Amino acid sequence: MSSSTVLVLNGPNLGRLGVREPDIYGHTTYAELADLCVATGAELGLSVEVRQTDSEAELVGWLHEAADAEIPVVLNAGAFTHYSYALRDALAQVRSLTVEVHLSNPAAREEFRHTSVIAGVVTGSISGFGVESYVLALGAIAARLQA
Ligand code: DQA
Repeated sequence: MSSSTVLVLNGPNLGRLGVREPDIYGHTTYAELADLCVATGAELGLSVEVRQTDSEAELVGWLHEAADAEIPVVLNAGAFTHYSYALRDALAQVRSLTVEVHLSNPAAREEFRHTSVIAGVVTGSISGFGVESYVLALGAIAARLQA
C-alpha cells in the first residue's frame, strides 16, 4: 500500500446501515458509505480502503496490519467501542494517525455508550455527524499528512 493509503474499518452491525435503526443511523446504506469514503479520499488524494466485519478477531487482525504497515486508520468500532480491551490494545500499537468515528453521538445516548475504551489511544474522535463523521475524519487525516 502507498503512503497515502487509509484504512476505514467498521465493526459489528455496520454492514446493516440503511436498514438498521435508520432514525438513529440514517438511511445511507453501507455500500453507499463505502463509496462516499472512497470518493472523498480520491478528492483528498488518499487511497481509501473500506472494510467491515462483525468479528472482533478480524478487526484486531486489520489493526495489526495497519500497525505493521503504518497505515492511518478511521475506525468505527460499533459496540466494541464500549468494552473491547483487545481492540484498544491493538489500536495502541498503531503509530500512524487513528480517528475514532461514530455516526451517532454516543454521549447523548444510553449510559453504556458513554464509555469508549478506545478513545484514549486514538489521535482524535469524531461523533454525531452521521456519514459526515467519516468525511470529517478523512479530511483531518489528509490535513495532517500534508502538514
Ligand atoms: C456507533 C455507536 C455505537 O454505540 C453502536 O454500538 C454502533 C454504532 C455509531 O456509529 O454511532 O454500532 O458506533
